[in-house]
Amino acid sequence: MKKINLAIFASGTGSNAMNIIQYFKNSDAVQVQFVLSNKPDAKIITSAQDENVKVLLASNAEVEEGDKIVELCTAHDIDYIILAGFLRKIPLKLIEKYPSQIINIHPSLLPKYGGKGMYGANVHKAVLENKEQESGITIHIVNSEFDKGEILAQFKCAISNEETLESLQQKIHYLEHTNFPQIIEKTIIK
Ligand code: GAR
Repeated sequence: MKKINLAIFASGTGSNAMNIIQYFKNSDAVQVQFVLSNKPDAKIITSAQDENVKVLLASNAEVEEGDKIVELCTAHDIDYIILAGFLRKIPLKLIEKYPSQIINIHPSLLPKYGGKGMYGANVHKAVLENKEQESGITIHIVNSEFDKGEILAQFKCAISNEETLESLQQKIHYLEHTNFPQIIEKTIIK
């Protein structure tokens, strides 16, 4: 039986991307075809190569324009695209080709702390400044509106009075690493 082909897009460290690669490494049903990054010096590039996963690069202009990444996904027979810390807006051309097959992880409980400029540490800083008592992660389908596609799952964590940016980041990464691959699997294997 044909495997389900994934492309993972990542811009930075790539701890989520690597966690997904490990999760599906010996899968009979799912294959990570490539990691795409918009940052030539991102840590994910060497980490993925060390695991023998193909790495492709696209400049910010190419991501914005869309044709190159649509072509790469078509050429690799990609079924689902996973955004794992990919910090550029997804072009409409790709969303039109994959209308409900692009899955994003966002480090807050959407609709709170979503939208333009809300990524990575910016999200956690805003959460702490507003003295929120809880935060969490949202896994959702990507549509043409930033951070507004159908929500697949959310997971929460409590925020203590002593919470720091680093400790909140750790809690969020823990939630991401323990839940994202499983939600991807549940979504794509029907
Ligand atoms: C993750 O926390 C992810 O939720 C966030 O970037 C981090 C990447 O970490 N994504 C966004 O903020 C998207 N708006 P990683 O590179 O270690 O996986």
